[in-house]
Amino acid sequence: MKRIFSGIQPSGTLTLGNYLGAMKQFVELQADNECFFCIVDEHAITVPQDRLKLRENIKSLAALYIASGIDPTKSVLFIQSEVPAHTQLGWILQSISYIGELERMTQFKDKSKGKEAVSAGLLTYPPLMAADILLYGTDIVPVGEDQKQHLELTRDLAHRFNSRFNDIFTIPEVSIPKVGARIMSLQEPTKKMSKSDENQKAVILMLDSEKQIEKKIKSAVTDSEGIVKFDKENKPGISNLLSIYSICSGQSIEELEEKYRDSGYGEFKQDTANVVIETLRPIQERYHELINSEELDDLLDQGAEKANIAANRMLTKAKKAIGLGRVKKK
Ligand code: TYM
Repeated sequence: MKRIFSGIQPSGTLTLGNYLGAMKQFVELQADNECFFCIVDEHAITVPQDRLKLRENIKSLAALYIASGIDPTKSVLFIQSEVPAHTQLGWILQSISYIGELERMTQFKDKSKGKEAVSAGLLTYPPLMAADILLYGTDIVPVGEDQKQHLELTRDLAHRFNSRFNDIFTIPEVSIPKVGARIMSLQEPTKKMSKSDENQKAVILMLDSEKQIEKKIKSAVTDSEGIVKFDKENKPGISNLLSIYSICSGQSIEELEEKYRDSGYGEFKQDTANVVIETLRPIQERYHELINSEELDDLLDQGAEKANIAANRMLTKAKKAIGLGRVKKK
């Protein structure tokens, strides 16, 4: 049994990319492992957020986790800001991070590009993410491909801390799915599908209606060749739809290429839309049952309690290793 940790930002409704790249893996890992899944609201405030919208997104993300199959009696589901050890260890790890390595992070470069006012939090985001992971003695971190660089930094920071102070942190491994690690924008298929995309036609949201899903997939940018074939370089749009179809249906890409050998893009797109709709339908139904229930608050309270116990244990070790505070007489 391994320790698993992962987090998702409550910065808007989740996309199909978040589901296929991350959440779906979480559900599969949950059966045989000890899992911690987090709503990382402190990460979300590194860019401006509307207060009321943020609150709503936090609740909505909690409901989506459960609706997607996270069972809070098996896994610990909690909100990052309800476990203060995250920012406390985050500060310690910031203190051993170098500005140069933080400035090299692609996500920092992307999010700060062209902006006049860039928050310091956007730069120091990765040590907080490292703290999230290291607090729980995590063995495996399931994420999409865009988080790989942050995971490498987490490993570096853990090694650095262990060798300078005391060997307390487990060095985590990253787990990235074979298919679906990078679901692309439907309008610009060389760019990843992102919650913050201004063009909503490019993004399938987990709570989109059937009509919206169908419309977006039908208007997805493809090519003029008319052949359903996986070729990321030359046919990024069709390759993206093939990946989506494959994960949602459980059929391999080769099987799908064979199935649509003699059909045009119209039929292929319609069927892709159908499998996406079928994948999201049960999740959406459960979500609407949960979103305003008291059950959700109780589950999050229980999650925070369990997470605080585990996290505080590691925080105490880290503070001791680095020499913070006093040694208390027993
Ligand atoms: P976030 O909130 O941007 O995304 C949540 C998860 O979804 C994955 N993902 C995708 N996968 C495939 N295709 C896409 N188009 C796509 N877009 C997003 C992400 O890789 C991620 O796994 N920094 C993290 C949150 C975080 C975290 C952590 C993750 C904070 N602390 C500790 C793991 C462990 C983030 O911004 O994810």
